[in-house]
Amino acid sequence: MSEAIEVRKGLVGVYADDSAVSKVMPETNSLTYRGYAVQDLCENASFDETAYLLWNGELPNRAQLAAFQAEEKANRALSPALLRVLREFPREAHPMDMIRTAVSFMGMEDPETADISDAAQRRKAMRLLAKIPTAVAASNRLSKGLEPIAPDPALPFCENFFHMVFGKVPQKEVIKAFDVSMILYAEHTFNASTFTARTITSTMADMHGAITGAIAALKGPLHGGANEAVMHMLKEIPSPEAAEAWIQDKFDHKALVMGFGHRVYKTGDSRVPTMKKYAEIMAEVVGDKRWMNTSAVLARVMLEKKNIHPNLDFPAGPAYYLMGFDIPLFTPIFVCSRITGWAAHVLEQAADNRLIRPLSRYTGVEQRPVVPLAERG
Ligand code: COA
Repeated sequence: MSEAIEVRKGLVGVYADDSAVSKVMPETNSLTYRGYAVQDLCENASFDETAYLLWNGELPNRAQLAAFQAEEKANRALSPALLRVLREFPREAHPMDMIRTAVSFMGMEDPETADISDAAQRRKAMRLLAKIPTAVAASNRLSKGLEPIAPDPALPFCENFFHMVFGKVPQKEVIKAFDVSMILYAEHTFNASTFTARTITSTMADMHGAITGAIAALKGPLHGGANEAVMHMLKEIPSPEAAEAWIQDKFDHKALVMGFGHRVYKTGDSRVPTMKKYAEIMAEVVGDKRWMNTSAVLARVMLEKKNIHPNLDFPAGPAYYLMGFDIPLFTPIFVCSRITGWAAHVLEQAADNRLIRPLSRYTGVEQRPVVPLAERG
């Protein structure tokens, strides 16, 4: 008989700690980073400014932003050893496994890995912000038999990412849509990967270990992997006209429809309208409305029949596809952004740490004596 203890499966509704990084307000479908609405940041700030905000609590002034950007640009290059390791990865490996392994390797070569002082952790966070996109782009190219393209310190963060993936920088509307997606993906309170990073940090383990664990958690299709799943789903649907019958079939088979639902938001994800706006701009730029038209049918039917709203991954998936990225790169792009939120939480956890160690209600067999092997037959 198990004891009369309440277990909150999936920690639903449990407040695990205080945090001043971001706030989700499901009753108004809103999200703020350090007090600023994400929509406001998307329209009036950049991803660089958002990263600075998450780590420092305030938006930067011009000089602070210039120093932040200069430091990021100076840290982009990968070591020759890491580049050699990337070349050894199996071609068919999943890009999330590649970036997880690359970040773990970065931890072995970082001169300050063992130093978990706040100042050292901040320097390591900056190195991760700068190097992760380089490793993501390089492993993507190597997996296609292409040579990596070195980062260009003359280019801003988003432009440089396109340069490293495609060898060219697209028009400014595409850069803006990508920058917006990076802001929207940057932070989201105690989601599974962030909580993983905080749990690892609570043992006084280092920044690279926490981020490696967070990447592993993000890979799952119930979390970050959903943006890839959304695009696979959209490609499976032959045309917007076929979308209603397709989704009905999913309902009949009680299957999950990827990109819908959220643990916290039950009446709409605060980030969706902004990302949808920029996905539509991408459809306009590319001249291909199929994915957004199919998406519109799915969203309407999900709401009518299930009362379930789309989450950020729903418009982000087609937006990234229209930008030209390979589908397996979508979740690694999420990593390039979420490193900012993860690192902010690592710093916050370490600043007021208590080991995270919950309890489990035991449901196994009662205590019994060990029968020696000779007597077990
Ligand atoms: N497709 C179909 N049904 C869904 C659904 C979806 N995407 N999301 C939720 N539901 C259903 C559940 O099956 C459940 O039905 P039931 O009451 O008949 O069992 C009901 O809606 C309530 O959902 P619940 O299981 O309480 O949601 P959760 O908070 O545990 O899970 C997610 C949240 C995100 C894991 C879940 O919505 C999901 O798996 N979504 C698809 C993956 C995804 O897009 N993930 C990205 C999240 S940002």
